[in-house]
Amino acid sequence: MKQFDYLILGSGIAGLTFALQVAPRGRVAIVTKKDRAESNTNYAQGGIASVTSKVDSFESHVRDTLVAGAGLCKESVVRAIVEDGPARIAELIAFGMKFSESDAPSEDGGKQLDLGREGGHSERRILHAKDVTGREIERALLAAVAAQPNIEIFENHLAINLITSQKLGYVGPNQCLGAYVFEKKSGRVKIFSAPVTVLATGGCGKVYLYTTNPDIATGDGVAMAYRAGAAVANMEFVQFHPTCLYHPKAKSFLISEAVRGEGGVLKTLDGREFMDGCHPMKSLAPRDIVARAIDSEMKKSGADCVLLDITHKPAKFIIERFPNIYETCLRYGIDITKEPIPVVPAAHYQCGGVVTNVDGETDIAGLFAVGEAACTGLHGANRLASNSLLEALVCAHRAAVKIISNPPPRSALKIPAWQAGHATNADEMVVVAHNWDEIRRLMWDYVGIVRTNKRLQRAQKRIANLQEEIHEYYWNFNLTADLLELRNIATVAELIVQCALMRPESRGLNYNLDFPSLNPEWAQRDSVVRRGH
Ligand code: FAD
Ligand code: SIN
Repeated sequence: MKQFDYLILGSGIAGLTFALQVAPRGRVAIVTKKDRAESNTNYAQGGIASVTSKVDSFESHVRDTLVAGAGLCKESVVRAIVEDGPARIAELIAFGMKFSESDAPSEDGGKQLDLGREGGHSERRILHAKDVTGREIERALLAAVAAQPNIEIFENHLAINLITSQKLGYVGPNQCLGAYVFEKKSGRVKIFSAPVTVLATGGCGKVYLYTTNPDIATGDGVAMAYRAGAAVANMEFVQFHPTCLYHPKAKSFLISEAVRGEGGVLKTLDGREFMDGCHPMKSLAPRDIVARAIDSEMKKSGADCVLLDITHKPAKFIIERFPNIYETCLRYGIDITKEPIPVVPAAHYQCGGVVTNVDGETDIAGLFAVGEAACTGLHGANRLASNSLLEALVCAHRAAVKIISNPPPRSALKIPAWQAGHATNADEMVVVAHNWDEIRRLMWDYVGIVRTNKRLQRAQKRIANLQEEIHEYYWNFNLTADLLELRNIATVAELIVQCALMRPESRGLNYNLDFPSLNPEWAQRDSVVRRGH
């Protein structure tokens, strides 16, 4: 049993930001399932949206967020996050983050930060580190964490389940006491106990066959919180990024929206600029519109991809602004300064998650959720580009401030050791691998960019069958990371389908051919699910 004051699950921007805020107050454990930098954060390209220029305003950022969110954002939350942004950016810079600077001097002749543009933003407001913003964030935050003696990082440790008073059979209000954690190397399950547990486990892109997300994104936090009885909401709003590199050898490589922000144009294989008739912002329209337009073009023509063309810009500019995209594409034989990039949409971001307020509080005492794992009300039915790193920064900080001002008491309840059941050696790993593939493919085919109730119902039945099999496997065989993640993607798939079936309308990212319009009764209404309800 390991005891800490703060237990943080996840080492992306949300977990690390929270850790740095609370470290002066007590002992902090960061439990993370692979290497410390491996996270969605590490692959973020475009940047962080925040109001830092004189021509921009909070009002404008709030408005753009609300428009993208299609009537489902919580305006007070949007306002709080947008307005806290500049202070959190300043803090991130103080931790050592190096944003790209503009070639043009500021009014007083000094340096100023370069501001990028992305879909749905009416101003240039994206702070970035060329096209590797996330890598630079992880570098800076991990260096700051390394300088804090109070923080211990446990790599290759995968949280299995939250430990809650109700699950242990104690009466009274439900309280989180920590987590059972699987150490990959030894195969042992350890108890991490703390009065504060923070889910900073990120999103669930791996639920889909094609995704921009790395392998860690299996929705573990949402699945754990759901199993523990917390409310989860709006899981139907899965954001598909319009432009993932299409190449047989490339796995999950994003072509940043910033490429379109700098003038990149979407075309069919025969060169038609198909976004012209779709939206006044053409290729820079909000993501849901662009992803659906690409999906429709591909279905109409039978083509495997569309093209993103930035060749009209000077080669020097492209190489300096997008060095990572340029070099990666070149490795696959595509010179983006000379030829268009083949792209397809792919699952990218989970707008829903564990229900929290803007301070990360869930409805279980002692349990907090921040970053992509949480559903604060910022994104509504569709996230505005580059608002997620902002949300993670602001809400992780706010959660820390709230907890410090009102610390939850340490529980005296006894936590039993993990029950291994009748585990024997798993020699049927092929079953786990098969079920992984089956879920991801059926989610792509039946619960993708365009949905129908019939396809959702089919998906629901199949997921239920797979869950039975996984359940049996879970109790009969030794635990492995793959099995634990499979159980979680099955749960998250179930929740996405359940939320999609609850919403009788098309809004933002939830497009259902059986209900092609907005339903005013569902404006400002979240699809909330809770175990056993
Ligand atoms: P993550 O950064 O994903 O971190 C999750 C952490 O939890 C990881 O350390 C993981 O290992 C750990 N973890 C998960 N499950 C467990 C478990 N069971 N036990 C222990 N540890 C666990 N957003 C923007 O705002 N701007 C962008 O430019 C941008 N670009 C993006 C580009 C790509 C390719 C991708 C994939 C996403 C992008 N996003 C962007 C989205 C953004 O990166 C994420 O939403 C954000 O980084 C999430 O941060 P997080 O800290 O919540 O989670
Ligand atoms: C991108 O660079 O296109 C990703 C931005 C985001 O997901 O917010």
